[in-house]
Amino acid sequence: MAFVVTDNCIQCKFTDCVEVCPVDCFHEGPNFMVIDPEECIDCALCEPECPANAIFSEDDLPETMQAFKQINADKAKVWPVLTQHKAALPEAKTWQDKPDKLIYLEE
Ligand code: SF4
Ligand code: F3S
Repeated sequence: MAFVVTDNCIQCKFTDCVEVCPVDCFHEGPNFMVIDPEECIDCALCEPECPANAIFSEDDLPETMQAFKQINADKAKVWPVLTQHKAALPEAKTWQDKPDKLIYLEE
């Protein structure tokens, strides 16, 4: 089992999550962050840190967010690790809580 980053991170990328991960399993894309499921140790520390509430335990992943499990696994293989907090994307506050942002995901 692992934790999964979902829709509400897209176009926001607040990066508070990366600071608390003890095993550095967050990988950064242009406008989204993913968790490497092979590295995640299920400590749950990241979940409450996300201002966008975008992180779920795999077991609690809503039905509408199931696609993000594979997206996290796939992108973790190609995007670089991020371990230090950085500024959120400029329009993060505008995009926060907008629904169905998957169409905006940048590769
Ligand atoms: Fe890292 Fe723990 Fe979050 Fe997994 S659950 S991504 S190990 S902080
Ligand atoms: Fe994304 Fe939340 Fe982390 S918005 S970058 S999962 S703190």
